[in-house]
Amino acid sequence: MKGLILSGGTGTRLRPLTYTRAKQLVPVANKPVLFYGLEAIIAAGITDLGIIVGDTHREIKEAVGDGSRWNARVTYIHQEAPLGLAHAVLTAEEFIGDEPFVMYLGDNLIIDGITSLVEEFRESDSNAQILLARVPNPQQFGVAELENGRVIRLVEKPKEPRSDLALVGVYMFDSSIFSAARRITPSHRNELEITDAIQEMIAMGLTVDPHIVHGWWKDTGKLEDMLEANRMVLDRLTPYNRGTVDKRTTIDHRVAIEEGAVLEGSYIRGPAIIGCNARIIDSYIGPFTSIQRDTVIRNAEIEHSIVCEGAIISDIGVRIEDSLIGRMVELKKAVARPRAYRFVLGDRSVVGIL
Ligand code: TTP
Repeated sequence: MKGLILSGGTGTRLRPLTYTRAKQLVPVANKPVLFYGLEAIIAAGITDLGIIVGDTHREIKEAVGDGSRWNARVTYIHQEAPLGLAHAVLTAEEFIGDEPFVMYLGDNLIIDGITSLVEEFRESDSNAQILLARVPNPQQFGVAELENGRVIRLVEKPKEPRSDLALVGVYMFDSSIFSAARRITPSHRNELEITDAIQEMIAMGLTVDPHIVHGWWKDTGKLEDMLEANRMVLDRLTPYNRGTVDKRTTIDHRVAIEEGAVLEGSYIRGPAIIGCNARIIDSYIGPFTSIQRDTVIRNAEIEHSIVCEGAIISDIGVRIEDSLIGRMVELKKAVARPRAYRFVLGDRSVVGIL
């Protein structure tokens, strides 16, 4: 079996971060979200992986490399434009060949992994297996209808959903998906939709089996989902201290401190992770916060947030919450006269001031 990870796309819902970086590389508990999927596939015993890349291919390649770090082999497959998930599948046809494969959306996170699902599919004789989860708001998802334990219909964002089973971003297919994907036409948003391709498989008389996921999963395409994913992963954090913590610092609850991090005169209430060479000085870091490498937090309070590498936050009089701070961002008290806010904000930045 092979693995196919989708890491192209445009990531409009995570702007402005996605103007300058791939959304699949935004860190969740200091690890790119893409790596969770990659590691889940490898843990299921699949080591021949294809990664669909688009405009952000350089960054993805730099982060993942050739896969040898995980004892896996990675082949990069360039998708000319983000023309839909079924288009991405067709782009990978040469790489996949005749083998069955698992397809994983690179911005999804399934906390319990996919090993048992892959085993189930390996042992079954179905042509596809789709992952479904019960959701309170099926209108916002691709939704599956079941009959006698089989999938009979898939509807994209139905106004009046006939079930609450939403499609999770992991699919297993045999090579019949290619002929199905070739038979469909682009949707109103001009994409070849994977739901249409799977519906086509059903119309062709092929078997599509459901697997209902009971554990936690998330599509991290939006800010709130990213923060929730961060919260969920940090909730399972094993604490350790590989940095330097002075006597004036209190570590409360589970905190992971990476190599070279320096904590002085601060209060850290976990679960939280402090990245390599970060400097936390006279600050409060609250629960569910990930501070990435090479950041400086001085005389500030922050919780339930993700701070990306190289950011500097200092002398902020009010606690920062529910925030995603990009790489190398500087958030500092302005001391120069006249007293004023001075911003350099990229397109679509979001700032809430008091
Ligand atoms: P989406 O989140 O559905 O699409 P997107 O990345 O364009 O984001 P947005 O809706 O915010 O604009 O994509 C799911 C995953 O699949 C994501 O990791 C990107 C990837 N993808 C491709 O690789 N090729 C594609 O053609 C599309 C549509 C998505």
